[in-house]
Amino acid sequence: MDHKTKNIQKTISGFSKLSKVGKLKWLAENFFKDPQSTIEELRSYWHSDDRQQKILDGFSENTISNFPMPFGVAPNFVIDGKPYAVPMVIEESSVVAAASMAAKYWMTRGGFKTTILGTVKIGQVHFKWYGEGSILRSIFPEIKLRLKKEAMTITSNMDKRGGGILDIELVDFTDKEEGLYQLRCSFETCDSMGANFINSVLEQFGKSLQLFIEEHPKTSDQANKLMIIMCILSNFTPNCVVRAEVSCPISDLGTMGSNLDAEALAYKFWTAIRIAEIDPYRATTHNKGIFNGIDAVVLATGNDFRAIEACGHAYAAKDGHYQSLSHCTIEDDVFRFWIDMPLAVGTVGGLTSLHPIAKKSLELLGNPSAQELMKVIAVTGLAQNFAAVRSLITTGIQSGHMKMHLVNILHQLNASDEQIKNAVIHFNDKVVSFSAVRDFLQS
Ligand code: MEV
Repeated sequence: MDHKTKNIQKTISGFSKLSKVGKLKWLAENFFKDPQSTIEELRSYWHSDDRQQKILDGFSENTISNFPMPFGVAPNFVIDGKPYAVPMVIEESSVVAAASMAAKYWMTRGGFKTTILGTVKIGQVHFKWYGEGSILRSIFPEIKLRLKKEAMTITSNMDKRGGGILDIELVDFTDKEEGLYQLRCSFETCDSMGANFINSVLEQFGKSLQLFIEEHPKTSDQANKLMIIMCILSNFTPNCVVRAEVSCPISDLGTMGSNLDAEALAYKFWTAIRIAEIDPYRATTHNKGIFNGIDAVVLATGNDFRAIEACGHAYAAKDGHYQSLSHCTIEDDVFRFWIDMPLAVGTVGGLTSLHPIAKKSLELLGNPSAQELMKVIAVTGLAQNFAAVRSLITTGIQSGHMKMHLVNILHQLNASDEQIKNAVIHFNDKVVSFSAVRDFLQS
């Protein structure tokens, strides 16, 4: 029976209970034209070491195979005087090449400088209190003490490492929604990203708050006026921020391979950043370029790129309108370019110590502390942004990008090794496009 006529079953109950091969077979038979070759292809990406495969499968659910992504390295980053080769996992052509170019460019101009501006993480207990707000405020100091005390079994290890609960604030949202309050809690989580730690503490806070209200003489008769809505960390960490910067005398900028002089380049560069500070349409693309670098290192080191992205974009809008994450000044003939980047990352716990390649990435970076990793990530974002803006204000990005993309197009058109070699020579001084490459292969 061919795929069109056989009895196709596109829904299933108990999929998660099937073995991995069972899942693969069911999917292949019901969703793919050629089940056998689909199974073989997806199986070919299984790890040859069963133990390693089990580790990968443990990261998610309903796994049927692995999804390969390129693991690249951008060398020649000098950060606070120390050299790094930065691991990057990204599927987009030109990104690693651009980061490497920017790293080398600034290596000869003093390198990148960084400053940690803060490492505070945030968590929230959202709740409703329909009783008197003044009662809640009057007993809040006691609530704080009890919450901290009852979370001690969870916090003791983190306390020993120099972290733990920093503060608990009562935030009143009753002007926006009747009875709505929040415990806004701040944490130091040292070298771990801290999501599990924070969420465990917050859930304990929720339970302790409920009990406290039930037992306290001022509130015991109105315990039903409290409703814990949810306890969860906030991915917005505006006080867990690192600054990365570069600067040099304008004359040291050189021509950047263009026909402009250093002064004109500096002015064009500054204006490009200014546009991204003013216009959210440009800012979104500008910041996307920054995240090309940031996400690639975050992913390579086993950190949570969705959290980093969400926070970065919220931070970019913190002053009331969405704008560039990077900034530039030209003062006293000095060109300065910097980024303040919120980065809640870890170098222990989570995937960092489980994912075999994430471990290698961290080793490549010299097994950094979380703060050192924040620096490397922010610098890579800044370098990426520098390279993109430099291209945009000089050659445009398409020539370089399409040169890098040429081989992808050739693969898509099933070109042989010989054809690829000839095409690379042919397109050296020509504009690359899908149709131009197809025409070349046909000719
Ligand atoms: C492409 O992935 C990123 C850029 O569009 C960033 C930018 O425009 O600044 C080149």
